[in-house]
Amino acid sequence: MPNNLISIQALDEVMTDIGSARGMPNAAYHSEELFRFERDEVLSKTWAGLVFESELPEPNFAHPIDFMGLPLVAVRGADDQIRIFHNVCSHRGMPLVSEPGTFAGTIRCAYHRWGYTAAGALRATPNIGGAGVHTVEGFDCTNHGLKPVRSASFMGIIFVNLDGNAPELDAHTAPIKNRWEKFTNHMNQLTPAKSASSLRLEVASNWKLPVENYCEAHHLPWVHPGLNRYSPLEQHFNLIVNEYASGQGSLSYTHSEVAGTTLPKFSDWPEEKKSHAEYISLYPNVLLGLQVDHAFAIILDPVSPGKTIERLELQFVGKSAIEQAFAECRDAVLSAWQEVFAEDIFAVEGMQRGRLSPAFKGGLFSPVLDESTHHFHLWLARQYRADYVRA
Ligand code: FES
Ligand SMILES: [Fe+2]
Repeated sequence: MPNNLISIQALDEVMTDIGSARGMPNAAYHSEELFRFERDEVLSKTWAGLVFESELPEPNFAHPIDFMGLPLVAVRGADDQIRIFHNVCSHRGMPLVSEPGTFAGTIRCAYHRWGYTAAGALRATPNIGGAGVHTVEGFDCTNHGLKPVRSASFMGIIFVNLDGNAPELDAHTAPIKNRWEKFTNHMNQLTPAKSASSLRLEVASNWKLPVENYCEAHHLPWVHPGLNRYSPLEQHFNLIVNEYASGQGSLSYTHSEVAGTTLPKFSDWPEEKKSHAEYISLYPNVLLGLQVDHAFAIILDPVSPGKTIERLELQFVGKSAIEQAFAECRDAVLSAWQEVFAEDIFAVEGMQRGRLSPAFKGGLFSPVLDESTHHFHLWLARQYRADYVRA
């Protein structure tokens, strides 16, 4: 780690009792060098959310995504499997796919038309042996396919583990699955609606600030007066799932009553918990929400130290929930969340600007309401510190 930017003492100040802890220093929010460090030493070593399965809507579909400056591409093959590759042609290094879209069985490079299968195998090298000669002695296509990235799926999100060494995604997400089994065993019923179920917001903020903001309900009454009416602050509790997941929950989420929606609900959701909802940040960059009649997931796409794209996808309970009959109900849910996440923009952008001040040195935490936010800082400081130990 570039340890001239963050001292070990600063990390120790984060990794202490919440009553006296500081947050991560300003450099972690503004430095290009630390942004690359986080990509290579923090996010690459765990599972980061990359793309929704629904963003690859049909077989033979490719979707390029730059992940913190690394060109990647998600490809859904004719076998319906989604694979992730480094988006770079083996020949002269052109990005292979530049726009999301379908391909006709072979993905062709725009430069010299080398072609790859959806499984990443190189299968066409036009003119490699001279005009009209498509093979050449000593060149074996089997050695030069696309370079795969380890990936797996949870709640409709394709996660990537760039260094390839993290435990299986199933094990990684087991604490959340176990926790949410107290509400339902039917998470696999969740279905994204094909249209009007997603949002895209661009925020002038480091990726960590939307995570921190999502972790707490502390700001609810002032920032979200609408939400606070059907899910008030005093009904919220902190939620620490495990060392890399925290957030908050509500004991009284009554949007369906307020908005008059009648969406299908999880059939095994306990009656006494029907108004409960939970909001979990799955570090590093995925935010999840679960209610009795819908769920949502947000992928935070860290574009640069000061810019993040938030992509949200709503998911409803069972196939009938995405039929036309429920279109208005789905719209009501989407616009409620749209209002909430738009209201948060000024907060995360403000915190980003505040971190330009030398007078701010990580800030303070409410020992009562900021526990889940501090938990995220603890996790992050541990990752930074581990690098000191390795160095
Ligand atoms: S760079 Fe892709 S075919 Fe030449
Ligand atoms: Fe908020």
